[in-house]
Amino acid sequence: VSAPDLAAIAARWTANADRYASWGDIAHGHPRYRAAWIAALADLVGHPRRDGTPPARIADVGTGTGEVALLLADMGHHVQAFDIATGMLEHARAKPAPPGGSVAFAVGNAYELPLPPASVDVVINRMVFWTLHDPPGALHEWQRILAPGGRIVVIDGLHFAAGRSPAQRIRRARTRMFWALEARIAGRRHRGSTATAGSRNDHTDNGPPPGTTWTGAEDAHRQFSDAGLRPTSFTWLDAVQRAQRATAPLRWRLAGLLPRFFAITWEAP
Ligand SMILES: C[S@@+](CC[C@H](N)C(=O)[O-])C[C@H]1O[C@@H](n2cnc3c(N)ncnc32)[C@H](O)[C@@H]1O
Repeated sequence: VSAPDLAAIAARWTANADRYASWGDIAHGHPRYRAAWIAALADLVGHPRRDGTPPARIADVGTGTGEVALLLADMGHHVQAFDIATGMLEHARAKPAPPGGSVAFAVGNAYELPLPPASVDVVINRMVFWTLHDPPGALHEWQRILAPGGRIVVIDGLHFAAGRSPAQRIRRARTRMFWALEARIAGRRHRGSTATAGSRNDHTDNGPPPGTTWTGAEDAHRQFSDAGLRPTSFTWLDAVQRAQRATAPLRWRLAGLLPRFFAITWEAP
């Protein structure tokens, strides 16, 4: 794997940060969707405030606008959250920290985190794995910072319709139409400026992220075996998807933008 151009990737995500923040906030602003994520996270890492599990030291890698980090802190965990895109982190830091919660945001790269070996109980990330150009390399780095008995939790989804089935083709066409419309609307909003909608997640010189070609969850799963790791569990987060379907804006649903989320975990010896 050639070294990803991290500066270009960071710039790309920073350029999209405002739009990303407005999206994330819309969805998470809904109590039902938020509750579904809390329940899913509780299953994966425990909920100290509710079920008395001991608080875990958690690294949220690729935290973006900090949604998962803030939920975990609110649940009673000790969270350190990292991202390479400063524009994303600005949004995360601007959000109110949960009362009594422990969360710190810092610049950090998934392949080389600013943490000592064996210093966290959980490495978690959501919707980050698909963007990584060297997932096994990242998994090895996460292994390095995990304490014995610690756990990697990768939450992701099939964000792009890459398959050849008729259903996938239709979804792809709907999504393309959606982006074309968004670009026109954004173009109108930014008339006279050079801003564009930045509608595609191609990471400049790196080419599109590998996750854009995933056709099934096994493509994510395979990254673990490529790293020499055998996952401990695989779970479809169906309750999250039901809540998402029920609460997301109609135009996202029409555009086929609602991925089916899954979680893959691996436990350190
Ligand atoms: C789709 S967003 C997900 C954000 C957040 N985890 C969430 O669930 O809303 C992907 C994030 O991964 C970050 N990212 C991509 N490559 C990274 C890397 N090598 N190191 C750290 N963060 C990275 C991006 O900057 C972006 O904020």
